[in-house]
Amino acid sequence: MSALDRLQAWPRRTLAHLPTPLVSAPNLRRALGADAPELHLKLDAETGLGLGGNKVRKLEFVLAPDRLDGVTALVTAGGPQSNHCRVTAAAAARLGLRCVLVLNGPEPDEPRGNALLHRLFGAEIRTVARREERAPTMETVAREIADAGGRALVIPVGASDGLGTLGYAAAFLELDAQLASLPPREVTWIFTSASSCGTVAGLLLSVSLLDRANLRLVGVSADLMAFDLRRTTLELAREGGNLLGFGGEIRQGALAAADEYVGRGYGMPTPAAEEATRLFGSLEGVVLDPVYSAKAAAGMVDWIRRGSVPPDHRVVFLHTGGHPALLV
Ligand SMILES: Cc1ncc(COP(=O)(O)O)c(C=O)c1O
Repeated sequence: MSALDRLQAWPRRTLAHLPTPLVSAPNLRRALGADAPELHLKLDAETGLGLGGNKVRKLEFVLAPDRLDGVTALVTAGGPQSNHCRVTAAAAARLGLRCVLVLNGPEPDEPRGNALLHRLFGAEIRTVARREERAPTMETVAREIADAGGRALVIPVGASDGLGTLGYAAAFLELDAQLASLPPREVTWIFTSASSCGTVAGLLLSVSLLDRANLRLVGVSADLMAFDLRRTTLELAREGGNLLGFGGEIRQGALAAADEYVGRGYGMPTPAAEEATRLFGSLEGVVLDPVYSAKAAAGMVDWIRRGSVPPDHRVVFLHTGGHPALLV
């Protein structure tokens, strides 16, 4: 069995509404200049479960039926506005499991956005003061659950481990099939947000499995330095590849890491992200979030305006979701 066959046969749980739409964005393309390349949006904001986003695809693999034998609770961690925690809590609700979220930051007086949804989906919240306390606290919670006769599945931050990465390896196959119905282009560029890097790593893994020389991936950082983004992405792509028994090389040359759109830091607004949010909203009716997708879109807009993508190439913006953060 080939690594690709293994990916396609891998046990997973249906949680997402798939395939997500691939739509063209002609108004945005026109606004980016006469030489702007063909532009499409892959709307993974619309994966459905618990308001959707990229984490749903990862959880399809992480929460595969064979991994939940005897499990009574899901335990995971993130920031107070974590999209990953929102979707994990929604999945737990759907599966009839307990969910404990370890969140760094104080308990909000009036929860809004994802903080509101964490609670709406019935998750129990443990707050810790610092990010470094999240992993050990997850282990403590898992032990407490075991002591009480239950069993916890601990899911890493962002569901970005080798298994979660397979979610985006599978997503690339879905996108590839959608692109096959469009006229051929010499090169296709995919721009997407990157933080824990499972999304971009999964895409890179499939680009490598399929040996696609005509694909370029641009991971636009929400927080990491480019060096770390690249290193983490390659590690995760290899980890996912190992699960599939993939013996080939990860196509490192297909990956670009952009860290110049982060601004002053994670979640801090930038003028370019705000402009991208207005452009996507007013020209295409598409909502971006300020933490991830707006910064990724700012990167894509800048690369196109600077002429870094030739006019006869194709661009796909993979929208990873995160809407609730816009409404905080
Ligand atoms: C809305 C959104 N977009 C993008 C990302 C980044 O994805 P990844 O963690 O797989 O790099 C995240 C997760 O942190 C997210 O919540």
